[in-house]
Amino acid sequence: MPSLPDTDKAPDTAKVPRQRHSAPVVSVRDVEHTYGGGRGTESVTALGPVSLEIPAGEFLVLVGPSGCGKSTLLRLIAGFERASSGEVEVFGEQPEPGSQAGIVFQQPRLFPWRTVGDNVGLALKYAGVPRAERAGRTAELLERVGLADTSGRRIWQISGGQQQRVAIARALAGGKRLLLLDEPFAALDALTRERLQEDLRTVSAETGTTSVFVTHSVDEAVFLGTRTVVLSARPGRVALDIPIGLPRTGTGPDELRGLPEYAALRAEIGTAVRDAAR
Ligand SMILES: Nc1ncnc2c1ncn2[C@@H]1O[C@H](COP(=O)(O)OP(=O)(O)O)[C@@H](O)[C@H]1O
Ligand SMILES: [Mg+2]
Repeated sequence: MPSLPDTDKAPDTAKVPRQRHSAPVVSVRDVEHTYGGGRGTESVTALGPVSLEIPAGEFLVLVGPSGCGKSTLLRLIAGFERASSGEVEVFGEQPEPGSQAGIVFQQPRLFPWRTVGDNVGLALKYAGVPRAERAGRTAELLERVGLADTSGRRIWQISGGQQQRVAIARALAGGKRLLLLDEPFAALDALTRERLQEDLRTVSAETGTTSVFVTHSVDEAVFLGTRTVVLSARPGRVALDIPIGLPRTGTGPDELRGLPEYAALRAEIGTAVRDAAR
């Protein structure tokens, strides 16, 4: 006689591994961050508590009033700061500076006396790309950021927008699967800024690199992101966390900005940012 199923045991289905959700790229759990507070200094709680999970391929845009802790959150993810409390993990590990993420700052950090190509080539060298492959990879990266003809020019000879493109190429050169960008277009004129937004949107859709992008601009958040997180005034907390379900490819910038969903998202995020600043 076949034995009856043992009802005390977990049913067979429990042996089937749970449906695999790939682990988040960035995981921020109950994070608070306070600066100072040492002898004689006043402490400033800049951020939190904040919890956030960023899955692979997400382009998350962080928006919020000045001083609400956006850069602090980015620096915690980059490993430049350790959270006062809570946990930050990147690819399941404690972040170490320069190890898991490529970083782009508001002011491009380049070698001004070197050529565009050398700046990218050096980033490839630091990333361990063999010498023989560097020229080809440099050309590819410069093509990707729209600088194919600029390789031989020196950094001081090119415009601010072009310099920021070089900075993006350098960040991509590391081959990191995470990009952190802190207001990279804030110092650029409006037209240059729009061009870089369009190109970054395309690059991110093509490479699928997980990105965290900080900005003041609601339009930039809607245009660039697959998701927007609005932080409240200091100490920053998540005031709104909203997916941006706009097409990532095949839709031109004007067409995109003309979509009714675009206007609706702008309005909703704009309201949240204004409320957050109160
Ligand atoms: N190194 C630091 N030491 C002390 N206070 C800091 C430091 N960095 C930032 N702060 C303070 O923390 C708060 C958040 O700063 P930050 O993260 O740079 O904001 P945001 O990028 O949103 O403008 C601000 O009040 C700022 O003055
Ligand atoms: Mg900042």
